Amino acid sequence: MTDPAVVQQLVSQCMEARGRAYCPYSRFPVGAALLTKQGAIVTGCNVENASYGLSMCAERTAVQRAVAEGYREFTAIAVTCDIAESYVGPCGACRQVLREFGEDLEVYLTKPSGSYMKTSLLELLPMSFSPAHLAQP
Ligand code: THU
Repeated sequence: MTDPAVVQQLVSQCMEARGRAYCPYSRFPVGAALLTKQGAIVTGCNVENASYGLSMCAERTAVQRAVAEGYREFTAIAVTCDIAESYVGPCGACRQVLREFGEDLEVYLTKPSGSYMKTSLLELLPMSFSPAHLAQP
């Protein structure tokens, strides 16, 4: 269980990251803040491309940045977009990429107001495919 003060940092950092989104095509900015087991926070935003299919989601940007920085164990992620009316979860591709590094991940869905709800990767991606399956005989 993440300390509430750290959750608050994740929430504010994902909102700051959303402000750095490069999304001229969708105009749908997304921000993510990933908490490593060591206590570091690595942020990500969506980065789109004129060749649309090359666009990258905020959550995956955060994961790839974190891995490149040497982190592979994560305990929580906060994500946000501009939708104020409801809590919005990560897309399926991002859920699977997060799953690569463990199932035990707290997920904080954050509204632009800063209010958030807690869920988990286990809840968002039940019965998931994982690296462990590749090790089966
Ligand atoms: N997007 C994310 O960054 N994360 C998600 O989980 C869903 C979608 C981005 C991709 C694209 O740049 C924009 O939102 C619209 O789909």
